[in-house]
Amino acid sequence: MISIDNISKSYTDAGETRVILNELSLSFEQGDSLSIQGASGSGKSTLLHLLAALDKPDSGKIMLQHEDCMLNLSTFSEKQADQYRKHHVGLIFQRFNLIDCISVWDNVKLPIQISKGTYGEESDAFLKELLSSLGVYQHRHKLPNRLSGGEQQRVAIARGLAHKPPLLLADEPTGNLDGKNSDSVSHLLVETCKAQNTALLMVTHSQKVARLTEQQWYLEDARLRAI
Ligand SMILES: Nc1ncnc2c1ncn2[C@@H]1O[C@H](COP(=O)(O)OP(=O)(O)O)[C@@H](O)[C@H]1O
Ligand SMILES: [Mg+2]
Repeated sequence: MISIDNISKSYTDAGETRVILNELSLSFEQGDSLSIQGASGSGKSTLLHLLAALDKPDSGKIMLQHEDCMLNLSTFSEKQADQYRKHHVGLIFQRFNLIDCISVWDNVKLPIQISKGTYGEESDAFLKELLSSLGVYQHRHKLPNRLSGGEQQRVAIARGLAHKPPLLLADEPTGNLDGKNSDSVSHLLVETCKAQNTALLMVTHSQKVARLTEQQWYLEDARLRAI
């Protein structure tokens, strides 16, 4: 479903070029779960940005096959990248990044409105089920900052999956949570993606969280190695 083929990425800063990803390859199918660990600055977020089409590799290809379409992320125009992010990918961050001036329910509706251009009430049942399975449906009328960190991240998972993307990218999703919340949120994240048949690629510093995923990778010296 996703095939990362021999990608490289370097950054030049103050005249010095540093290879962040070096001829890296990885492939996975819809519904698979993967974790990526690695030291700070090893390039984990860079890899997620490439998969979100927020940036392009210097060389190599990233292909996504979904239903009838085969997309080549490495050749996207700005407009194609924008469409891809609206329809094919969900994002979760360490700092939740919910919109604090609108309700939980409106936060979760947003990706559907953006992807379809409108919100039909037929989506209500799906969002109710999604928020319920994440244990936050009862908070739907509240503003996000009235919720605990663990609850906010569960809402962010619902928002990441609301438009039914084939791929969910999570960058240190439990990095701001204590041990107990990290356990429950990471379990729910993996289980909910599996239930939605969404591929999950999660960056984490926690070995315990990483062990919940089917494939475990470590990014080091610009290469991925299986753990
Ligand atoms: N846009 C950029 N320009 C220059 N250097 C960058 C840019 N983005 C990231 N880097 C550098 O690339 C390296 C990898 O960054 P990142 O992917 O954020 O690492 P990680 O997520 O593993 O901590 C770091 O040294 C970072 O400073
Ligand atoms: Mg990072």
